[in-house]
Amino acid sequence: MNKFTPAKPAGARSVDEITGSRRLRRMRKADWSRRLVQENRLGVDDLIWPIFVVDGKNIREPIAAMPGVFRLSLDLAVKEAERAAKLGIPAIATFPNVELGLRDQTGSHILDPENVINRATRAIKHAVPEIGIITDAALDPFTSHGHDGILRDGIIVNDQTVEQVTAAAVIQASAGADIIAPSDMMDGRIGAIRDALDANGFQDVAIMSYATKFASAFYGPYREAVGTAGLLKGDKKTYYLDHANSDEAVREAEQDLAEGADMLMVKPGLPYLDIIRRLKDEFRMPTFAYQVSGEYSMIKAAAANGWIDGDKAMLESLLAFKRAGCDGILTYFAPEVAAMLKG
Ligand code: PBG
Repeated sequence: MNKFTPAKPAGARSVDEITGSRRLRRMRKADWSRRLVQENRLGVDDLIWPIFVVDGKNIREPIAAMPGVFRLSLDLAVKEAERAAKLGIPAIATFPNVELGLRDQTGSHILDPENVINRATRAIKHAVPEIGIITDAALDPFTSHGHDGILRDGIIVNDQTVEQVTAAAVIQASAGADIIAPSDMMDGRIGAIRDALDANGFQDVAIMSYATKFASAFYGPYREAVGTAGLLKGDKKTYYLDHANSDEAVREAEQDLAEGADMLMVKPGLPYLDIIRRLKDEFRMPTFAYQVSGEYSMIKAAAANGWIDGDKAMLESLLAFKRAGCDGILTYFAPEVAAMLKG
């Protein structure tokens, strides 16, 4: 084999001449200097923990597609909320798996003040008053077809859904929810919810808008968790955003803020860091990402196979949200990462 020896250009410049002595590796040379110049940090105060609740007692049902995540009966959900508060996690977000017999065409069980979500709110508020509770007013866990809205003649009807979601939001607030987070993407929901909360004396209840929720394949494991996977017919493209669009996401956020949203959320998370950055730069509002079930499961699955270091991938993905401009992240990793940050 011929060996090729590249010729040095005549009068080759030294690296110091090339860089003008600006060597960017200087500040990366040691752990102490890297820590000193680190621009973004992940802390326990950045975490919101989504949990799944079910009726019954002493139930801790594994979710196959989400290793380490369980459906919890309320007694255990309260214990987990206590653990979260001790770890310093500021808030939890609850999602129900409702028995099939209680699901119908309009998701009417969402209006029952005694449904599992409202009972969870009351139980957790009573036992752990220091933790924030975020509830979703979307209909999907309550409908027999798994859609977030009322389905009539194959169409998700906007205005009737807004009425239902708005009534649900007021009931959730009266159960003690601190933040209403409607995830259904119906037009006008934020303004309608704000008006109704105020009319019922819930001026202090905030709204976190799932302003930019994309039609996404990454929700798969969540649908197993809440039991909508087998029910859902078709897709959610008539209400969730097209994942090809970015200007439209900005318009959605702009509109939700005009209607009274206190906080914005981008969902899913990691594939949409560009959207997070745009919203933060454009509106300078409290901005959150939902690192959704599929993102969690991908990291867990690859780690379980020994293909990646799960802890490092978890921390890197969460810090990426901070770098993109997030004030906080909804993540199923919350207790795990909080324990790690504490230790
Ligand atoms: C629906 C809803 C979804 C998630 C939470 N609420 C998406 C869907 O089922 O279409 C996804 C959360 C996750 O994947 O972790 N309102």
